[in-house]
Amino acid sequence: MNIKEGIEKRFSVRAFTDQVPSIELIKEILKTAGSAPSGGNIQPWKVYVLNENAKKSLSEKTLHNFDNGVQEEIEYEIYPKPLADEYKKRRYECGADMYNALSIKEDDLDSRFKQIRENYKFFGAPIGMIVTIDRSFGKNGWGHVGMFLENLWLSAIHHGLGICLQESWSIYPKTVKEFTKHPDNEIVWCGVAIGFEDSSHPINQYRTKREELSSFVKFID
Ligand SMILES: Cc1cc2nc3c(=O)[nH]c(=O)nc-3n(C[C@H](O)[C@H](O)[C@H](O)COP(=O)(O)O)c2cc1C
Repeated sequence: MNIKEGIEKRFSVRAFTDQVPSIELIKEILKTAGSAPSGGNIQPWKVYVLNENAKKSLSEKTLHNFDNGVQEEIEYEIYPKPLADEYKKRRYECGADMYNALSIKEDDLDSRFKQIRENYKFFGAPIGMIVTIDRSFGKNGWGHVGMFLENLWLSAIHHGLGICLQESWSIYPKTVKEFTKHPDNEIVWCGVAIGFEDSSHPINQYRTKREELSSFVKFID
């Protein structure tokens, strides 16, 4: 698969087979991801890879919080408040497309809740990762981690694996830290569910839409 195909074929995988990728393969994927560019080559990304055991314990604790409405102090807002209409519309459509793929109706709150809950099982992926960044970094440092994450994704695709990035883990920073034991100067950026795609699962069948070029590019004379 060439780079263009990899970029265009990439999508969020939210159901995985039981096949466990070897730790050597995960290391190889992470090594490739680490070739990402960053201003001044600061490489501000940190990754905590959770094996089956650690992932299970983190999931159990987080699901307990989720099911019992336990809230933690969040360290960054996932979306701006308020979210401008342009972005709100896209966010709504992305959720609607996913629930449609699962045949979940808009008023079926129980099924929607159950699907959101899957986040905290890493969508059944055999490997989970937590990505952090030193909290001293500003907006551009977070952008550099974004470059690392896209590299991680494309590198995973190259090796036949799929990914879903998960900002949902940033809602439980205290619980995550109990397992990753990252130092106080680091902030949880997102989680990564990684494994082999279950291509028969309906959640992996739909694809999100993209805007026309004219909505985000201006050619200046
Ligand atoms: C930083 C980041 C965090 C994300 N967090 C979540 C998440 O917590 N749960 C989820 O189901 N999808 C999550 N996504 C996936 C997005 O919803 C998805 O990328 C978007 O809808 C576009 O769809 P696509 O990845 O299939 O092209 C995240 C994506 C990014 C880039």
